[in-house]
Amino acid sequence: METIKSIMTRRSIRTWTNEPVTEEQRKLILEAAMNAPSAADARPWHFVTMNEPDVIKQFAGLGGTEMLEESTFMVLVCGDPSKEIYPGFWPQDCSCAAQNMQLAAHDIGIGCVWIAIYPLEERVETCRKILDIPDDITPFSLLAMGAPNEVLGPEYRYDEGRFHSNKW
Ligand SMILES: Cc1cc2nc3c(=O)[nH]c(=O)nc-3n(C[C@H](O)[C@H](O)[C@H](O)COP(=O)(O)O)c2cc1C
Repeated sequence: METIKSIMTRRSIRTWTNEPVTEEQRKLILEAAMNAPSAADARPWHFVTMNEPDVIKQFAGLGGTEMLEESTFMVLVCGDPSKEIYPGFWPQDCSCAAQNMQLAAHDIGIGCVWIAIYPLEERVETCRKILDIPDDITPFSLLAMGAPNEVLGPEYRYDEGRFHSNKW
């Protein structure tokens, strides 16, 4: 799939079949994550992958996240401020990595949804507890994936009203 096609047709998928995400697909999604741009190329991130149902289902109680029980592969993107060169950019860097994962997943036919973690303090702490994440690492976003069990058509969201040419 071409990049533009992946960007323009990607949708959040929240229901999955039990067909597993293969090792090759998982690797590709993580390669896409780690190829993301980051401020000064600092890469202030870590990725906790999950494919054990007993681990995954613990996230179904975050609130409005019951669907996660169906996910067969999840990645928690975490920020590591100690790796930053210019402090404060880690959430932007982690966002780039997360979006790369969403687009790569879609490109290879894997359905993905971004579940908000940071800056929701309660969710951040819940992730820490479930996955035993150290205090100096901040859980940022949860990418829940699997073989899609729904088909959502593309949405066209280009809005002239948000477009400012040469000045506001
Ligand atoms: C920062 C961020 C947080 C999000 N948090 C959630 C979430 O907690 N639960 C959820 O179901 N979807 C979440 N989403 C997905 C959005 O709801 C979704 O991207 C938006 O409705 C647009 O739909 P689309 O992704 O299908 O284009 C999140 C997306 C982003 C970028």
